[in-house]
Order: sequence, then structure tokens, then C-alpha cells
Amino acid sequence: DKSKNLEDKKNIAKIGAAHVKDGMTIGLGSGTTMAYFVEAVAERIKDEKLNVQFIPASKFIEKIAYDYKLKLVSIDQINEIDCAVDGADRIINKKILIKGGGGSLFREKKILLNAKNCLILADESKFTDIIDDFIVPVEIVPFGFTKTVRAIEEMGGYCFIRKNKEKILVTDNQNYIVDVKFSNVNDLVRVHKKLKLINGVVETGIFYNLEFEFITSSEKEW
Ligand code: A5P
Repeated sequence: DKSKNLEDKKNIAKIGAAHVKDGMTIGLGSGTTMAYFVEAVAERIKDEKLNVQFIPASKFIEKIAYDYKLKLVSIDQINEIDCAVDGADRIINKKILIKGGGGSLFREKKILLNAKNCLILADESKFTDIIDDFIVPVEIVPFGFTKTVRAIEEMGGYCFIRKNKEKILVTDNQNYIVDVKFSNVNDLVRVHKKLKLINGVVETGIFYNLEFEFITSSEKEW
């Protein structure tokens, strides 16, 4: 149930926060688990007087980090991100995640790709064995988005433009998100590569080619 899920997220976030060391630069992904992570890490910083700086992947997590008085830096001000901490929507396997449920996939991917370590905080609900029917969030440029959607549908995905109430949702990068439903696909990397070749596609929610380390409440055997 939902409250157990939140409890799980909180516990995982706490374990994640224990990975932070003095002097580190940490990338902050987005989502509810990451909000708990910020809370937990802020407590450690206060108690242990640590010097840690953070790069937020969304305005959502930036606001929370700011409220908890974390030291924030911009990704272009620093050379190296010691560790990127992030959540996930679905864990396909150790090497492939689907992200972007919260809409911040481009910045999350940018941070993960530029971090020395990638720590993924994932409660049990994120694990799945079914990979032949899934939704991939894709960030697209607003100009000509109907044409971008058409091109995505031509490759076999059914598109839903993400909305917030009645209005099209605008990302932190002033783009749109389209949730693409695919059926009978098992090669997600191929799907990602095909999507990236479409004019108008900025980034996809398929995360791969990264060394993920997981903190999870799942007892699933890998
Ligand atoms: C944000 O765009 C996503 O990639 C998040 O990582 C994902 O939605 C996880 O969210 P929760 O921690 O809220 O489950």
C-alpha cells in the first residue's frame, strides 16, 4: 500500500544519504524519493557539519534543497560530480532504467552522465519483469511538436502529450513531454536510438550506458 511505499522511500533515502562524504559534489535527481533524500542529507550536514555542494536536476528539487539550506552550484561551475543520486520509474535490469515520470529527464540524464558514481534509490514498485509493453517519456521541442509526434507514431509508439490540468506541461527547459506507449518491443536501446534520430526529440527517458549502483527495498534477485 501507499504508506508502506512512502516508508520504503524514506528508508532508502536515509541509506542513500549515508553515502555522502565531506567535500563531495552531489547531483540531485527529482521526485518524492529525492525529496526524502534532501531531508536526510540536510540532517547529516547539520549534525556532522559537512561541507557538501549540490547540483539540482529540476526546479522542484532545487526549491526543496534551497529550503533545507543546502549549498547549490550550477553544473557548469564545477569540474566533477562525485556522485549523482536519483530515483527511477522502472528498473528494467541492472543496466537500463526508464525515467522522466516527473518530467525532468534531460537534466537528470545530463547529471548522471557526468557523475563519477550513479546511485539509484528505488523502492520495490520500480522493479518489473514485463518489458514488452511500457511507456517512455520523451522530451520534445515545442516548435512543430505535432510533426515530431507524427514521426514518433510512425515508428510504432502511441503518443500522449503530457498535460498539467488542461494545459500542455512545459519542462524546466521550456520543452514538452510526450509519453510514448510501445507494445511488443524488447530492445529499449534500439528504441532510444531511433527516437533520438527524430528531429524535435531532445532526450528520452531510457537511461543506459551508465554504471548504476542501487539502493532498494526489493528482495528481487538480480
Ligand atoms: C523524474 O523525472 C523521474 O525520473 C524520477 O526519478 C521518478 O519519477 C521517481 O520518482 P519517485 O521518487 O517520486 O518515485
